[in-house]
Amino acid sequence: MTMLKLTNLHKTFNAGTVNEKKALDGLNFDLADGDFATIVGSNGAGKSTMFNAITGAFFVEDGTIELDGEDITFRKEHLRSKIIGHLFQDQMKGTAPT
Ligand SMILES: Nc1ncnc2c1ncn2[C@@H]1O[C@H](COP(=O)(O)OP(=O)(O)O)[C@@H](O)[C@H]1O
Ligand SMILES: [Mg+2]
Repeated sequence: MTMLKLTNLHKTFNAGTVNEKKALDGLNFDLADGDFATIVGSNGAGKSTMFNAITGAFFVEDGTIELDGEDITFRKEHLRSKIIGHLFQDQMKGTAPT
């Protein structure tokens, strides 16, 4: 069964400025129960943006995020943190789950 389903995710930083950057441009990604995945990509490919979209650090401009069949696209980060673990690259960021 599909555990995580990302459909057509779009995230643009600094939209409408000279620094505009389309970090996610129609990303689709599925994970099934029990899958173990490693995401590989060059610096700036959008890996962190993808994870931050999943954990809810920001809302995507388009697309949907489903977890166990439930649409969590607009669920707030602190609520997602109850069901999604997140280890930060910068250890000083984020908080440990309780
Ligand atoms: N907060 C931000 N503001 C502006 N641009 C950003 C921000 N976060 C990421 N970006 C840009 O989005 C792109 C993807 O970045 P990122 O997801 O951090 O890549 P990765 O984790 O794969 O190295 C890069 O071009 C990066 O500069
Ligand atoms: Mg990164």
